[in-house]
Amino acid sequence: MTVLVTGAATGIGAAIATAFARAGHSVAVTDLDGDGAERLAQMIEGAASFAMDVRSRSSIESTCRAAVAALGPLEVWVSSAGVSSMARFVDLTDEEIDLNLDVNTRGTLICGQVAARQFIEQGRGGCIINVASMAGKRGGVPLLAHYVASKFAVVGLTQAMACELAPYDIRVNSVCPGYVRTGMQDREIVWEAELKGISTDDVVDFYVADTPLRRLQTPEDVASMALFLASDSAASITGESVAINGGSFMD
Ligand SMILES: NC(=O)c1ccc[n+]([C@@H]2O[C@H](COP(=O)([O-])OP(=O)(O)OC[C@H]3O[C@@H](n4cnc5c(N)ncnc54)[C@H](O)[C@@H]3O)[C@@H](O)[C@H]2O)c1
Repeated sequence: MTVLVTGAATGIGAAIATAFARAGHSVAVTDLDGDGAERLAQMIEGAASFAMDVRSRSSIESTCRAAVAALGPLEVWVSSAGVSSMARFVDLTDEEIDLNLDVNTRGTLICGQVAARQFIEQGRGGCIINVASMAGKRGGVPLLAHYVASKFAVVGLTQAMACELAPYDIRVNSVCPGYVRTGMQDREIVWEAELKGISTDDVVDFYVADTPLRRLQTPEDVASMALFLASDSAASITGESVAINGGSFMD
């Protein structure tokens, strides 16, 4: 398969790109951080890298064209690019609100549109996987109201896309990670400790205590589910938003 992953320089996106490559697929590693994307692509066989900003339609469209030219027709698109910040709801700034909605929601929507147009033009179906979040299903998350809004939107968007794209044999699903050890989580632990006036160790202890399986998730936990959703084993699954959260939130 040929797979394009956004936000793939680090964290969950990097684990997804690596997992697909290890399974023998050709991967387009894309990220706002073009150098980071290139570093990862050099470490995995059969990969090409592209600098791409999911806030820009023209950047997404030109990257899609370049990836197809380099690797051949696309079969899977994974939208993992995301941002977060933390603040009390009453203190959120326009800048924070706009960035979270632009990258996490609008970026995922435009990426899905570009991917769907490419798949329809190719005429062979396709698979889109959106990286949403536990915060896309559970609003009771402190200090992340704008992020929660941006991720609930992705869960709804996934259902709407799945419905409209099914006639083209395009499946659309989301993954909803819980507390995953990445750079994003490292930043959130520091912000949360500062905002709550507790230690970073206390924040991590809370995350673990909030998880019935009693451990933080790894990027590889999420990558396994992305691989499954893209496989023939998931041929009848579309419109789902699958939790990978150790039981932190069950619905
Ligand atoms: N870490 C967690 O606990 C967790 C939990 C649930 C969901 N998620 C989601 O998983 C996804 C990946 O997060 P992560 O934890 O790996 O974070 P991360 O910060 O490690 O990686 C995010 C990547 O997205 C890229 N990016 C940011 N803005 C971009 C833009 N405008 N265009 C293209 N790329 C951009 C960054 O450069 C970075 O490489 C995000 O959508 C995030 O919301 C993370």
